[in-house]
Order: sequence, then structure tokens, then C-alpha cells
Amino acid sequence: MKDERQEGYLIRERIQSMTDSEAMDWLYQKSEKFIRLMAYYRCAMMEVETKFNVLNEEYSLQHDRNPISSIRTRLKSPQSIKEKLQRKEVPLSIDAIEERLNDVAGVRVVCAFPEDVWMLAEAFLKQDDVTLIDRKDYITHPKPSGYRSLHLIVAIPIFLADEKRSMKVEVQLRTIAMNCWASLEHQLRYKKDRCMTEEMASELALCARLSAELDQRMDALRHAIEGEAPTDMSDNG
Ligand code: GTP
Ligand code: MG
Repeated sequence: MKDERQEGYLIRERIQSMTDSEAMDWLYQKSEKFIRLMAYYRCAMMEVETKFNVLNEEYSLQHDRNPISSIRTRLKSPQSIKEKLQRKEVPLSIDAIEERLNDVAGVRVVCAFPEDVWMLAEAFLKQDDVTLIDRKDYITHPKPSGYRSLHLIVAIPIFLADEKRSMKVEVQLRTIAMNCWASLEHQLRYKKDRCMTEEMASELALCARLSAELDQRMDALRHAIEGEAPTDMSDNG
């Protein structure tokens, strides 16, 4: 908070000491840097999305079904970027966005079955231009809320006209059942002017366990139909 006020003061002071056209140029340069950075993040999301589309295509040729149900990309809004840097008590700057935030670019891959999550994560991380920065396995170890997903923070190169740049992307992999629970829980948790009681939170956690059971049973059913033995791949890297 103090840093922000200080920076705001310095910006005002600097602008006041400039002529109108100098100030316009300076503000434009700052916003141009931000707009450019956001464009780089969009390019990185496109790269990641394409990689998953390719894996989906290849798998469907071999196995006659799609492991991916949907892919969604999202760029963090300027407001959320600002709030997250403030929460981390980091002064606002373009460099801080790149250095301190891992989730400016987000790609959510919703899979049919839990095994698809492990298979896709492994195939994605094996690619030689994908560097794993952090991995959070909330499927093997769900959050206290009941939330389940596999989160991967990766660095991926984007190729521009004159340079190659490494960008961070947060990839969330989850099943349809995990996604259904997370979307509904998010809606309920963030209802305006309503607070969630402990009872409600434990009911939500129970719903999460039911959704995990649904995943298990659907996976078992798929194995029975396809005549394969189920494999536990949750600890594969
Ligand atoms: P954020 O500041 O929210 O990004 O948290 P973080 O950096 O500590 O990362 P975390 O591993 O907690 O996961 C971040 C993202 O996972 C969130 O932005 C949500 O998309 C999702 N997520 C994490 N926990 C929950 C949860 O309890 N419910 C739902 N619906 N989503 C969750
Ligand atoms: Mg986040």
C-alpha cells in the first residue's frame, strides 16, 4: 500500500515536470510495454493450447476417443494482476508481473477420465521445449475445500520476429467431474453478501468426495467396457 502511494506520487510528480506531449509519450510507452507483455502471454497460451490439441488429435487416431473434453484459456485482468501484486506486497511494475506472477496466462484442460489427466500431463511435460517450474497435485492430495486438479506451472518459448522469449503459463488439468464441482463451488463461494457456514463448507467437501467417486466408477466402467486392467498412474512424474 505504502509502495503504491509512493509510486503514484512519483508518477504524478514526474508527469507534472514534463510537457504535455512528453507526458503522453511516457504514459504511452508504459502502457505499450504492458500491452506487449499481455500479447506475449496470449502467444504462450496459443502454443500450449495447440500442444494439447495435437495430443488430443493423435490419441483419438490411435484410440478412437477424445481424451480432452474442452480447453479454455484466460488472461488475468489488469485489475487482478494489480491486486495479486499488492497481496504479495510487491511494487507494481512490468518486470514484477513477469517475475512474481505464475498465473497471468492460464490454460484449463478438461479431460474425460482421470487417466487422461496423467497421460496428457506426462506427454506434455516430455516435450523438449516445455520446462516444468512447479507442480501441484491436488488430485492425489485434494485441498481442504475438496478442490481437485493437477496444476503445472511451465515455461514455454514463443518465437517472435527477432527474438525467442520464455513465458510462464499455468496449466490446470482436471476431469469433467472435477471441473463441474470447481465451477459450482466457485459460484457458491463467491455469492455476493452471503457467507458460507462451516456446515455448507463440509457439504461442499462431501460433494467433492462424491465427484471423486464418480470419476473412479466411470474409469472402472471404461476399463470393463474396453477390457483393460486399470492402471494407477497418479505418481508418474
Ligand atoms: P491464486 O492466488 O488463487 O492463484 O492461488 P495460488 O497461487 O496459491 O494457487 P493455487 O494452487 O491455490 O490454485 C490457484 C487456482 O486454482 C485458482 O485460481 C483456482 O482457479 C483454482 N482453485 C484453487 N483452489 C480452489 C478451490 O478451493 N475452489 C475452486 N473452485 N478453485 C480453486
Ligand atoms: Mg490464480
